[in-house]
Amino acid sequence: MKILAFESSCDETAVAVVEDGRKVLADAIASQVDIHALYGGVVPEIASRKHVECIAALTEQALKEAGCTRQEIDAVAVTYAPGLIGAVLVGLSFAKSVAFSLGVPLIPVHHIRGHIAANYLAFPDLEPPFLALAISGGNTLIIDVRDYTDMVILGATRDDAAGECFDKAARVLGLPYPGGKPVDELAQTSAGGVYKLPHAHVDGAPLDMSFSGLKTAVVNLAHHAEQVGEELDRGALARDFTQAVSDTLVPRVIEAAKQSGRTVICAAGGVAANSIIRSDLERACKENGYTLYMPPLKLCGDNGAMIGAQGYYEYLAGHTAGMELNAYATRDIAEGL
Ligand code: KG4
Repeated sequence: MKILAFESSCDETAVAVVEDGRKVLADAIASQVDIHALYGGVVPEIASRKHVECIAALTEQALKEAGCTRQEIDAVAVTYAPGLIGAVLVGLSFAKSVAFSLGVPLIPVHHIRGHIAANYLAFPDLEPPFLALAISGGNTLIIDVRDYTDMVILGATRDDAAGECFDKAARVLGLPYPGGKPVDELAQTSAGGVYKLPHAHVDGAPLDMSFSGLKTAVVNLAHHAEQVGEELDRGALARDFTQAVSDTLVPRVIEAAKQSGRTVICAAGGVAANSIIRSDLERACKENGYTLYMPPLKLCGDNGAMIGAQGYYEYLAGHTAGMELNAYATRDIAEGL
């Protein structure tokens, strides 16, 4: 089954063709990162306009890359939530029109379910159940993936997402947007251990997380240094900050595995590209005897292929939608349509 998949929830327009949920035939991406970098973050209105400008040409490109005609497409999958509402609406409206004109089913896909499904593309033998750590620009979740479309949230951030925290830390470190990768690179230059940063715990909810205090601490530290004319050890701050994020995430994933009895763990989302978090996860899983899957870096960030992968399993579960399908800025991953 060939699925034409659309992703437009943030600042990447992506169109892919995926066969049977596992084989990527085409994965075309138009990134807007350079435009938003001028503003230090995503400007929602600009994001929507850019999606409108390129989605049709990108679809042609994906079909060409896949070497398939429109008539060979069996279904259309699309991110319908969560994300910037205007941006999501562009992909959704376009996908609806394609599905309608081709007379094929329309499959709504939750963006974070898509991130998790990136693992199915990278690891052909991987099947649920497993535990997923989904860490992206807008979400930080520990999820029990009971089956392809049956998920339960075990832990979540109570405030900022890990990626949001990286992007704000990058800004005060004088690094460009999106900040995750440059903070990662800067952190490699230092052994850290210089700055004492907060590690928050949520009373009565040991698997939940909080990153807003850490974000504020980094911002205050940098501003204070500037005000008193003190030189900041930028490498050490990047390193200590990243370590604080990793020390919040990794022990909770291990604890969630212990509590749920799952022995397989998958990482997902843009922040899963972080080298320190990846090596900490690897070490912790090895020590505890868990099997760890982490998608290659190019499948961690937003892409259309992951939507095509999850779309296949949503289709098998009978999750298709009519033309009344709406877009949502927020939507629980565990919730069906
Ligand atoms: O999954 P993603 O591409 O988009 C969303 O669905 O949000 O995640 C984007 C986030 C951004 O906050 C970006 O700074 C972060 O992922 N990111 C990283 C790294 N690469 C991207 N964070 C930490 N380390 C990285 N190497």
